[in-house]
Amino acid sequence: STVALIGAPTDIGAGHRGASMGPEALRVAGLADALRERGLQVVDTGNLSGPVNPWQPPVDGYRHLPEVAAWNRTVMEAVYAQLQAGRLPILLGGDHCLGLGSITAVARHCRERGKKLRVLWLDAHADFNTSQVTPSGNVHGMPVACLCGLGPRELTHLGGSAPAIEPSQIRQVGIRSVDQGEKRLVKEYGLDIYDMRFIDEVGMKRVMEMALDGVDADTHIHVSFDVDFLDPSIAPGVGTTVPGGPNYREAQLVMEMIADTGRVGSIDIVELNPAFDEHNRTGRLAVDLVESLFGKSTLMRD
Ligand code: ARG
Ligand code: MN
Ligand code: MN
Ligand code: MN
Repeated sequence: STVALIGAPTDIGAGHRGASMGPEALRVAGLADALRERGLQVVDTGNLSGPVNPWQPPVDGYRHLPEVAAWNRTVMEAVYAQLQAGRLPILLGGDHCLGLGSITAVARHCRERGKKLRVLWLDAHADFNTSQVTPSGNVHGMPVACLCGLGPRELTHLGGSAPAIEPSQIRQVGIRSVDQGEKRLVKEYGLDIYDMRFIDEVGMKRVMEMALDGVDADTHIHVSFDVDFLDPSIAPGVGTTVPGGPNYREAQLVMEMIADTGRVGSIDIVELNPAFDEHNRTGRLAVDLVESLFGKSTLMRD
């Protein structure tokens, strides 16, 4: 099958500058060749363009809302076009506000094809804030809420109607930083969150079995991989590090178990911030993990 790389070089929704350099860092780390080695055809569609980051304070609880909406419209069109062309899109972020455009496109595609959608949201954060409760105004803390219909019209209605997805289609893994008001909202909306405490108690294998439960031949899996999911000791190259994340082996197991389903249909790699990295170490780790997501494994049995 054919994979399409889509660069979205922006940090428009983030609280630190630098995620705009993510797409190039992933290319420099060898993403395309790594995928080709997995036997995939790779088309790098280059970078999308959009408004520059004006770096302004929040207005009515949102930073850069018009610019965030513009970037997400562009991402949505690009991801949708690749899905229509039968390719597996990999969005190279960019910050996580772009998951909104990407997943809106995937949801539309699945609706049209009569496919079930399972979103695996790998992150330290729930990204379920609203303008009322956000501590920062940064829209990268809001995409899941927007996808579930909670947010400003220009973000919730990207795909025409809202909500783009139901909370029951999402599983969040690795969560360890949820703001006060945000916590109330995720409970109200009934999000399935496998937080680090739960992972510690039951183990990553069992957690992934639960997160993947119900996935069948008609399921399209979308993996939204926020690099801050990983423990900062192995992945320093992100703007919003939170201690106590999955270690290298746990992260590999997550990717390998997702790969085992054979149902991955689209991916976001977001929040990689080369300005905080150590000689692209985090970029290279992200590529290593994406290889595992496409079936590279340390198992002797294959
Ligand atoms: N919860 C915080 C906020 O809303 C941090 C969000 C970080 N999100 C991310 N995609 N890195 O400001
Ligand atoms: Mn995130
Ligand atoms: Mn995060
Ligand atoms: Mn690997």
